[in-house]
Amino acid sequence: MATRVSAAPGDDLTVAYRRLNAAYQQTLRYAEDVRRLYQQVQRAIYQSLLGLANALEAKDAYTRGHSERVGAWSRGVAAALGLSPGEVDMIGQAGLLHDIGKIGIPEGILRKPGVLDPEEWTVMRNHPQIGAQIVAPFDFFTGGALMIRHHHERWDGSGYPDGLAGDEIPLGARIIAVADVYDALTSHRPYRTALPHATALEHLTASAGLTLDEDAVSVFVGLIEALSTAKPDVGARSALRPSS
Ligand SMILES: [Fe+2]
Repeated sequence: MATRVSAAPGDDLTVAYRRLNAAYQQTLRYAEDVRRLYQQVQRAIYQSLLGLANALEAKDAYTRGHSERVGAWSRGVAAALGLSPGEVDMIGQAGLLHDIGKIGIPEGILRKPGVLDPEEWTVMRNHPQIGAQIVAPFDFFTGGALMIRHHHERWDGSGYPDGLAGDEIPLGARIIAVADVYDALTSHRPYRTALPHATALEHLTASAGLTLDEDAVSVFVGLIEALSTAKPDVGARSALRPSS
């Protein structure tokens, strides 16, 4: 007569533990797959938005290279301020896309070879809201949408579209504003020539605590000075390139 050997209670526990562990490992693999897919989707969306930004650059000569520089400098300032890698990334992306709303501005205004009249300015000043609306459908970029909306606010509350002041303005928007002003001052426009680097820095310093965030200006000036010193032959405007 055959003897039936039953498993000891300890063996049952070992088997149950192994099964549980295998299920846990499987769940981790699924989570990793989902994370990777999510990142791929995010990258694809960024690429599409960049396509839009490039389309804008083709439409508006001034924007050519401007978005890239503002994005790269904003990223540099955010990193120097010790923000988290996620925040640095979002500020860099928002800097790159800050003027994307200009895609909704008529070309006659965008390419006007002269100073805009008050009505044209009213239209032009819609671009931050249009930009924020363009990126609004992307949940992962909610913070970036706010930075785009508020990149023309001023520290003293005299900016647009909402007249926010001081800390009410998202930090990323305050950083982007500094980079944006510097690049505008050092760019050739149809109605004025580009200001020299040193004059633009004097303007930034004079605006610190009035229209621009003092801390953001101070970090930006340090960063841009280091770049010009490191690569004097290419100048501060082209010395920094986006990392991605
Ligand atoms: Fe703008």
